[in-house]
Amino acid sequence: MKILIATDKPFAKVAVDGIREVVETAGYELALLEKYTEKEQLKAAVKEADALIVRSDIIDAEVLNAASQLKIVVRAGAGYDNIDLVAATAHDVCVMNTPGQNANAVAELALGLMVYAVRNFYNGTSGTELKGKRLGIHAYGNVGRQVARIAKGFGMEVYAYDAYCPKTLIENDGVIALDSVEALYKTCQIVSLHIPATAETKKSINYALLNLMPKGGILVNTARKEVIDEDELIRLMAERADFKYVTDVMPVAHATLAKEFDERYFSTPKKMGAQTAEANINAGIAAANQIVAFLRDGIESYKVN
Ligand code: 3PG
Repeated sequence: MKILIATDKPFAKVAVDGIREVVETAGYELALLEKYTEKEQLKAAVKEADALIVRSDIIDAEVLNAASQLKIVVRAGAGYDNIDLVAATAHDVCVMNTPGQNANAVAELALGLMVYAVRNFYNGTSGTELKGKRLGIHAYGNVGRQVARIAKGFGMEVYAYDAYCPKTLIENDGVIALDSVEALYKTCQIVSLHIPATAETKKSINYALLNLMPKGGILVNTARKEVIDEDELIRLMAERADFKYVTDVMPVAHATLAKEFDERYFSTPKKMGAQTAEANINAGIAAANQIVAFLRDGIESYKVN
């Protein structure tokens, strides 16, 4: 059995070594495709793979068509919007994710982006502190929970809204649970996004919602670029000179945002939230273990299709 790691954005070497150990101990073979630039390279590499470990790599019908032996794809991470689940099911390929494994890394980056924004991108001018500010966590999943924990250490007042998470669960963490998304944006000076990209959430972060935020509002996006209505974000930032947008998921309109709002907009060049040795080890090794359990014992924990 051949297990392929296909990562446009490679794991830390220590994580690849850990994955190799799990795979080889189980008697399987490990193949590696890193930093590929063309889809054709991915299609060629998946030809003989029985199992696939990916990150945000696009696994669509074309890739699945090329992977005639494939039985399982594990997205080493949380969001699996990069995988065509309908096509995978049609090909009888099991799709899993590794929820929570990279959550702390993403949460630390979200707080880092907040500090960067309130300190005016370290441009030498006097900024503000996070202490005492109201932070809104939009969706209280694995990452949202870690953001709350760290933000409390900064002395922030932490609020959250989650359409699916029971209020008591949020409140048990000492976080104020709000009843509506509008209340979250109205209340909080900083909002950190942790919603997945789904048909329901795409473009849901729009002008009307963002304009509810108080003066000096900061939107932090370590979730997905697709959840933002970028035209409306640009309109809002043009009208509100107080508003900042910081993200590690580069918008389609990056060039426009960087040109028009260079002192109020920042994006990392690549998605960096989960890019730590610890997160790579946690998510990568969890993926390898899930593949071995599936191939050997038919265990389907964390299956999403
Ligand atoms: C996730 O969904 O797990 C994060 O967005 C991290 O994505 P990455 O593995 O591509 O860095």
